[in-house]
Amino acid sequence: MVSGQDNEITNTPCEVAEEKMKAEVSYMKAKHLHIVTMGCQMNVYDSEQMERLLAPMNYRPTADMDKADLILVNTCAIRKKAEHKVYSFLGRLARMKQRKPELIIGVGGCVAQQEGYRLVELSPHVDIVFGTFALKRLPALVRQVTEKRTRVVDVDNTATDEASYVKPSGPQGERATAFVTIMTGCDNFCTYCVVPYVRGRQTSRKPDAILQEIQHIVQNGVREVTLLGQNVNAYGLKNGHGCDFPKLLEAVNNIEGLRRIRFTTSHPKDLSDKLIGAFGRLDKLAPHIHLPVQSGSDRILRRMNRGYTRDCYLKKVEKLRKVRPSIALTSDIIAGFPGEETTDFEDTVKLISSVGFDNLFIFKYSDRKNVPASRFANKVSGALKGERFARLLNVQAKITLQKNLSLVGTVQEILVEGLSKKGDDQLTGHTPCNKIVNFVDRTALVGDLVPVKIVEAFSHSLLGCPISGLERHYDKNGGIMHAA
Ligand code: SAH
Ligand code: SF4
Ligand code: F3S
Repeated sequence: MVSGQDNEITNTPCEVAEEKMKAEVSYMKAKHLHIVTMGCQMNVYDSEQMERLLAPMNYRPTADMDKADLILVNTCAIRKKAEHKVYSFLGRLARMKQRKPELIIGVGGCVAQQEGYRLVELSPHVDIVFGTFALKRLPALVRQVTEKRTRVVDVDNTATDEASYVKPSGPQGERATAFVTIMTGCDNFCTYCVVPYVRGRQTSRKPDAILQEIQHIVQNGVREVTLLGQNVNAYGLKNGHGCDFPKLLEAVNNIEGLRRIRFTTSHPKDLSDKLIGAFGRLDKLAPHIHLPVQSGSDRILRRMNRGYTRDCYLKKVEKLRKVRPSIALTSDIIAGFPGEETTDFEDTVKLISSVGFDNLFIFKYSDRKNVPASRFANKVSGALKGERFARLLNVQAKITLQKNLSLVGTVQEILVEGLSKKGDDQLTGHTPCNKIVNFVDRTALVGDLVPVKIVEAFSHSLLGCPISGLERHYDKNGGIMHAA
């Protein structure tokens, strides 16, 4: 309404109250949040944290990006390709924002931490840039953008503290497995790696907080947890919580209702005899370890600053297999690290063949901003990197298939995780050794542990058939069961 002199616009007290109420109602009205998660499991965990942090502001997760009022992109900077993926996705969001100007776009995670203000300069449609330390401050950032329609950047690297983690509350939905971050950051400074720069120094969470979180999710149906950190073996070593990683595992093993424990990633240099021994002692610890070796050449391992030799790695593998003969081993390899000669590469091929990994994640070396290896001489050409990458894939593909074929005829205990993406009403889950098994079972529910006979093996998964009524016994070492 128009009143008073000079055409000044004022509202009656009644209208003011009405407007205020409307604003509050629209603030409280459920809004839709869509999170796109790129990168490692730690980002998956952080994205769950984002959902929890924004729930009190009435943001409800939606799988439909077109419905979203707020889109958050949780990014990864580990290789050039991962970073490119972020920018090409942001291009897609720019077009979306043209159609829907009220949409709020936030970029978080490792690329956000690395690029900071550059990201808002490069991407005018991005409203929020929040780094890896800013999780807890996300609600305040969203509020700032909503209320003031400003653009905000928070790449402050104030250390993450316990209060930065939001405990899950209420039912966990239909899920049998969950990730729990037990430590953040990394102190190892491998010469090729960006993680210490974007995630900061190694910091361990307090054991009590971790145990409470696991107890809560287990009470809500989770049966398997994967403890996460860039180097979980170093858990507690510098924080003085009075609890090292084997001790934490033991406490997790005592949680009633929890059936399986996994962890990732283990650094070979910190894999202690005590931790290896845990594979023989702890019944819930799944027989699988991801132990990235990166290269089979001592010369390259030194240049990578990995802190172990090929021989030392092989001895640890031997010890693990002695303690838990059925243990599955997976690893990471970088092909074409600067200065990698043919002999270095052949050492890697030999190591792969002699260990016989259950699976390998192979990466072409990628220069990262500000890391020492980006300044190393003797870069391997793209073509040669490609050749070496293909050869490693080939060598490993045969080993993986062989390992999978050796399981045909055995009975495996599968934790039902949900419906298989393949459709056909198949359920999907993992063996204790972490292999994917798809099978049809009309009665099993998410969270059930089902004995399944493996009937067919493929490169990336196994096909199973549930057994029932047969006498079963467990192989204590591997958790593998045999039908009598
Ligand atoms: N903390 C884990 C690994 C985290 S990153 C560890 O120490 O093993 C996951 C994998 O990405 C690494 O194991 C490595 O194989 C690969 N990687 C890291 N930086 C890379 C780079 N610059 N180029 C190619 N691969 C890289
Ligand atoms: Fe990167 Fe090395 Fe730390 Fe792993 S241990 S996160 S590879 S610096
Ligand atoms: Fe990528 Fe960051 Fe994880 S760089 S691998 S998302 S810690």
